[in-house]
Amino acid sequence: MHTSNLYHHPWIGALSQLLIQKTVESGSMHDANAVFVCNSGTEANEAAIKFARKTGKVLDPSGEKYEFVSFNGSFHGRTMGALSATPNPKYQKPFAPMLPGFKYGTYNDIARIKDLVTEKTCGVIVEPIQGEGGVIVATDEFLIALSARCREVGAVLIYDEIQCGLSRTGTLWAHASLPRSAHPNIITTAKALGNGFPIGATIVNGNVAEKIVVGDHGTTFGGNPLGARLAHYIVSRLSDPKLQDSVLAKSKIFMKHFKELQQKYPELVKEIRGRGLILGLQLTQDPTPIVTAARERGLLVITAGTNTLRFVPSLTVTEGEIEEGMAILDEAMQVVLTPGEEPAGKQVNGEVDSPN
Ligand SMILES: Cc1ncc(COP(=O)(O)O)c(C=O)c1O
Repeated sequence: MHTSNLYHHPWIGALSQLLIQKTVESGSMHDANAVFVCNSGTEANEAAIKFARKTGKVLDPSGEKYEFVSFNGSFHGRTMGALSATPNPKYQKPFAPMLPGFKYGTYNDIARIKDLVTEKTCGVIVEPIQGEGGVIVATDEFLIALSARCREVGAVLIYDEIQCGLSRTGTLWAHASLPRSAHPNIITTAKALGNGFPIGATIVNGNVAEKIVVGDHGTTFGGNPLGARLAHYIVSRLSDPKLQDSVLAKSKIFMKHFKELQQKYPELVKEIRGRGLILGLQLTQDPTPIVTAARERGLLVITAGTNTLRFVPSLTVTEGEIEEGMAILDEAMQVVLTPGEEPAGKQVNGEVDSPN
């Protein structure tokens, strides 16, 4: 599984090369250039934050360019840097104070970008689709304006695609439809990259790569031969256009059912959000009883944001499984809304915690 990183092994280079090749081919981050391989999402973001700080130091040796911007509703991980970029009191409060220089803005608020991102900003991190925040999709206009401002002040733009990336939206990266000018300087990825095996990666462009020297950052287990070989295979599978087409086809099936549920329970289902197989149902009430009723009937569904049901199924979920799951969800909604008519299973009070 492991070899000291004093030894050369071929798979870390092969994985990095494949990630870059597939990223560029997919029409995403056109200038992807180098990869740091680690063991988790939070570590991938930690590396990105350090690379942004280093870039700030190189651009402004006075040390003034150290501020880091993220957005309300985001989730970037639980280590101190990533946590400092995750402005959620539930996660931050027990571990306060956060790192200095972290500022938070409002997602999709273009008007305030100028005041938020300044000459003092070294980096900005944003999820093209907020997962934990309730499956909220960034508008193209917002990401275009954000990237323009980052370029203007020399801040590193980081797209955290740990949840929404690797073909979950039907393209390799969720930002694929953006113009080149809105491509990031860094993409962070993890989760699906190992298909269950712990691995993460920070993909950087040449401008960032040239500022990082050997010894600036490192890891004992990151890029180990087993993980790198495994992820190489997984990236080759996840970048398959047939798989990506099937994601879009399955998304349509989900959408059809969600629209039916919205028509059937208009007082409950307020909004349908998301793309591909990262989908959310905004409910008008606490989803906990529905989650519980669904779980009792064999469907595991989780919550996100405020009163949102989040659907991030395996990309290989079958049409039959979607039908079965949606039938259970329908029944769960029915028993919760009309408890007298159907046996409403045991309800657990209290919040259902999200495993991110
Ligand atoms: C968008 C996003 N960023 C970062 C993370 C952190 O990843 P990990 O749990 O592998 O540290 C997550 C995990 O849910 C995530 O959804």
